[in-house]
Amino acid sequence: MAKEIAILGSTGSIGRQTLAVVAAHPEQFRVVALAAYNNAEVLAAQVRQFKPKLAVLLNPERAGDLAARIAPLSTQVMTGEKGLLAIARLPEVKLVVAAMVGIRSLAAIFAALDAGKDIALANKEAMVVAGELLMERARKRGRQIIPVDSEHSAIFQCLRQGGRVEKVIITASGGPLRNMTPAQMAAVTPQQALNHPTWSMGPKISIDSATLMNKGLEVIEAKHLFALDYDQIEVLIHPQSVVHSLVRYSDGALFAQLGPADMRIPIQYALSWPERWDLDSQVLDLAALGHLDFDYPDLERFPCLALAWRAGRAGGTYPAALNAADEVAVQYFLQGKLPLTAISRIVAEVLEEHQPGKVHNLEQILAVDAWARQRAAAIAEHI
Ligand SMILES: NC(=O)c1ccc[n+]([C@@H]2O[C@H](COP(=O)([O-])OP(=O)(O)OC[C@H]3O[C@@H](n4cnc5c(N)ncnc54)[C@H](OP(=O)(O)O)[C@@H]3O)[C@@H](O)[C@H]2O)c1
Repeated sequence: MAKEIAILGSTGSIGRQTLAVVAAHPEQFRVVALAAYNNAEVLAAQVRQFKPKLAVLLNPERAGDLAARIAPLSTQVMTGEKGLLAIARLPEVKLVVAAMVGIRSLAAIFAALDAGKDIALANKEAMVVAGELLMERARKRGRQIIPVDSEHSAIFQCLRQGGRVEKVIITASGGPLRNMTPAQMAAVTPQQALNHPTWSMGPKISIDSATLMNKGLEVIEAKHLFALDYDQIEVLIHPQSVVHSLVRYSDGALFAQLGPADMRIPIQYALSWPERWDLDSQVLDLAALGHLDFDYPDLERFPCLALAWRAGRAGGTYPAALNAADEVAVQYFLQGKLPLTAISRIVAEVLEEHQPGKVHNLEQILAVDAWARQRAAAIAEHI
């Protein structure tokens, strides 16, 4: 029977690849709803191809354009958070793919869990800011949160051996700045920083990969997804992006998941789990590769990784402040207003000022998010 799915963020890098997986297995899925932020043109093309029941554009100003583009199809068009919540509650949806950037879809993810849906989670920011609440909600409702991030998918797959887990080792390519000196990093342009050596991704995550903030967010994500202590998590630089992550058990046995840098693999696994299906991905030629390299991360040159570890360990509302400050700082860098090295400075100052609290509910997270954004912007304007 076809699995009924909804995709939040269908026009993005993950969203489009999710639809490519769906298109490769037309008998396995029915796309019930799609959502994006602004991109009426791409969303309209997706609506014409997959004929969902509901299509949502967060930006109300673009909804009219979407409706005009998809006429005379019967797909309903909605806008704003109301639209995302409507998707989350559609009775026929079984799995929601959370692939929007930022935390705009957080309420919809909670609503989907409450409505009895499983989540395929690409949107790591949701787990970073609300990990405990999300995992508790999923447990209470008996739902699954299946990771889409390649590292977390690898860990998810390696955690099926039984026995005591001693370490989870998250790999990082090191990004495009891996071998740069601090002076070179200070002068890097958005174009250079967006040019990831092994993965093709959206702009926010590409910059986070260049600063290694992305790896820090992944550490926090892994802590919650797999109920780990921070002492059980390690990060290693692995420039080839072939080993997607590893799990070491208490007898010394180390399990890794390897594969080409093709996000369709973890996306498809999140959709097909607990089954594994065929995919036309590139075959990895290990002999041609010859060697796989690993190194420790340099926390001096990549302070964002250290900041994320610190915010994660401190817990409470710190990760929400970190996430929001980073998002604002990345926008300043992408707009050419600040150097890349200002990102860690802004995040550090916001964390320094933050008055933390225990996370109780979504409203509190959104309030911290708003405060941290405002502070980050104010700091950025004065650098
Ligand atoms: N790309 C990857 O390989 C990868 C890997 C692991 C995890 N992830 C995670 O997956 C999520 C999506 O990443 P991506 O690379 O697919 O991003 P992306 O290509 O930038 O796409 C983002 C999606 O979110 C929407 N969006 C943009 N700005 C938004 C905003 N302010 N509020 C709400 N939605 C917004 C976009 O809609 P419009 O097109 O209409 O603007 C698009 O549908 C992120 O959380 C990222 O960390 C990505």
